[in-house]
Amino acid sequence: MKYRYLDLRRAPVMSSILLRHRMAQETRKYLDMQGFVEIETPVLIKSTPEGARDFVVPSRMNQGEFYALPQSPQTFKQLLMVSGFDKYFQIVKCFRDEDLRADRQPEFTQIDCEMSFIEREDILNMFEGLVKFLFKEVKQTDIPKLDRISYADAMKYYGNDKPDLRFDMRIAELTSLVQNKGFKVFDDAEVIVAINVTGASEYTRKQLDELTEWVKRPQLGMSGLIYVKHNIDGSLKSSVDKFFSEEELKKWASATSSNSGDLILVLAGKSAKTRKAMSELRLEMGERLGLRDKNTFKCAWVLDFPLLEQDEESGRWHAMHHPFTSALPEDLHLLKSNPGKVRANAYDMVINGVEVGGGSIRIHDKQIQKQMFSLLGFTDDEAQKQFGFLMNAFEFGAPPHGGIAFGFDRLCSLFGGSESIRDFIAFPKNNSGRDVMIDSPSTISQDQLKELGISTNSPA
Ligand code: AMO
Repeated sequence: MKYRYLDLRRAPVMSSILLRHRMAQETRKYLDMQGFVEIETPVLIKSTPEGARDFVVPSRMNQGEFYALPQSPQTFKQLLMVSGFDKYFQIVKCFRDEDLRADRQPEFTQIDCEMSFIEREDILNMFEGLVKFLFKEVKQTDIPKLDRISYADAMKYYGNDKPDLRFDMRIAELTSLVQNKGFKVFDDAEVIVAINVTGASEYTRKQLDELTEWVKRPQLGMSGLIYVKHNIDGSLKSSVDKFFSEEELKKWASATSSNSGDLILVLAGKSAKTRKAMSELRLEMGERLGLRDKNTFKCAWVLDFPLLEQDEESGRWHAMHHPFTSALPEDLHLLKSNPGKVRANAYDMVINGVEVGGGSIRIHDKQIQKQMFSLLGFTDDEAQKQFGFLMNAFEFGAPPHGGIAFGFDRLCSLFGGSESIRDFIAFPKNNSGRDVMIDSPSTISQDQLKELGISTNSPA
């Protein structure tokens, strides 16, 4: 990374950057054809509440005050709708001070879009169109109409809100079927879930032991793995034969749609942890069975996310997407009485298990926006101070509007068949958020600090 400019000379690295260029050009072409206007929004702004920490920039002219770099242009694009630009887009840098992973950089790029006088269906069609166009123009591939799956079903069947749908292997719940049969692990568990791994009945003892160790790793923290071999001759042999007869195991096989030659894997424990572990195990088995080919693309919309999530410790509600997201009209009446049950008019696009984009239909009514801020624990004063500019704008007539933002780096890496977005960024940061080539972040001189009014003396 120190010599990134030399790394960029290598053909595979250069071709990733060229792919990115092509993607950007085709994106502009499609959105321009559809009547979208590209508008730049400021980079020195005030904090936007997208859930991560802000990067801040001290102001020399207003000492003691700070700009924040945008986590996204969310509020600006909504204001542009009030101004009457009915279709906006921007390929734009966003900044989030959060823990980094292969698919996360502190500065990344969004294809950010917003539209007025639309409903959810219009957005889904318009941006399904964008992705289809990109696949056609960049990869000469026709993709079928996108599947749609509710958040609730995604969690139930895949244990995950960004399911990899290149393979089925749905999670089945066995809880009521297997409890109260004298097996303590099951009886003490909140949930018992299973997957059927097609064609894996001949897994050896060694392979099963290794899988058991895999689910016991601290990242998943399960206490063990239970299996049923659905042998070629149709017989069923499990690791819990002492507690469950073959008749009983037949019911498991039917609940998991298992056939001769398959292997059923079962996890038991606390609900959220067990579902998450099963989701990971499903992906791992998909990988081992070669079902996650990077040249196969399975795109889907995940719909009807919960509007709010509750912090376990403080009991405070947080917006799951962001505070400008509207509720599904049929759930709005629950906002006061049962906020946790309200579904959002929000959607994510997921390709091969990667969240490539997300958006929502916005609140465009000042009163409802006020109610939302109050639910999120803002006093009227705080809401006015932080978001007054947006709520005041709504008084001048805000059209119904909504939008979406795609993670452009993620989209490029998917098209390029890589898991890491870094390969598709000319000068990326490393996992500690450093640019080792220019050696940044770095200290600045005492003079600069003084000019900015920043004291270097630590507080007593
Ligand atoms: P959201 O926060 O879901 O929505 O972001 C949109 C998409 O941006 C990508 N993304 C990232 N990519 C790389 N590194 C990161 N650190 C990172 N964080 C997010 C993801 C994600 O789906 N303003 C809303 C959009 C809207 O409501 O219109 C927003 O930013 O692919």
